[in-house]
Amino acid sequence: MTIKGEKVILRSFRLSDAPSFVRWLNDPEVDRFLRAGAKKITLKEEIKWIKNLSKKIKTEKHFAIDTIQGNLVGSCGLSLSLKNKNAVLGIGIDDKRYWNQGLGTEATKMLIDYGFKKLKLHRIDLKVYSYNGRAIKVYKKLGFKFEGMQREEVFYKGKYYDLIQMGLLSREWKRK
Ligand SMILES: CC(C)(COP(=O)(O)OP(=O)(O)OC[C@H]1O[C@@H](n2cnc3c(N)ncnc32)[C@H](O)[C@@H]1OP(=O)(O)O)[C@@H](O)C(=O)NCCC(=O)NCCS
Repeated sequence: MTIKGEKVILRSFRLSDAPSFVRWLNDPEVDRFLRAGAKKITLKEEIKWIKNLSKKIKTEKHFAIDTIQGNLVGSCGLSLSLKNKNAVLGIGIDDKRYWNQGLGTEATKMLIDYGFKKLKLHRIDLKVYSYNGRAIKVYKKLGFKFEGMQREEVFYKGKYYDLIQMGLLSREWKRK
C-alpha cells in the first residue's frame, strides 16, 4: 500500500530497508528521541521485525517513509486496539539529514488521516520524551492535546525525564 503526499510517500516496508534502519536507529542522536539509550538493534532483529509485520497486518499498520524523490528517510505507524478503535502513533524521520524540512509534519498528517478516514479510528495517542521539543511542536501543530505525563519515567544519561502523553480524537481532526 502506498499513500502519496507532496513531500513524502508512505509505502510498505521492504526487507532491503533493514540496513538503513539499523544504521539510523543505532545513531545516538536519533536513539535519544526514540529509545533513549536502549540496547542496540541488530540487522537480524530488524529483518525479523519487518517479516513479522505481515503476520500482524490487522493491528500493526506501519509504513516506510520515502521522500517524493524516492529516498528512504524513516518510518511511521499505528498500533491498533480494534475493540476501542484506538491507536498508538509512532514516527521517525530516522535519517537525521532530513530533519526540519517539513517531512515529519506531512508524514504524521498523512498517517493521522489514514487512521481516522480509512481505518475509522476514534482516537490516536502517543508518548514523547519531555526533551523532544521538535516532536512536541509537530504534534501540537497537528492538533494533539496534552493529556498528562509519567513523571521521571525515562532515565537517560544520568538524569530522569518525564514521558508526555498526547491524544487526538476523530471529531477534533474533522474540525481542523
Ligand atoms: C520529530 C520528527 C518526526 C519531526 O519531523 P521533522 O521533519 O524533523 O519536523 P518538521 O520540519 O516537520 O517540523 C518541525 C517543527 O518543529 C520546530 N522545531 C525544530 N526544533 C525544535 C525544538 N528543538 N523545539 C521546538 N520546536 C522545534 C520547527 O521549527 C518546525 O516547526 P514549524 O513547522 O512551525 O516551523 C523528526 O525530527 C524525527 O523523526 N526526529 C527523531 C525521532 C523522533 O523524535 N521521533 C518522535 C518520537 S515521539
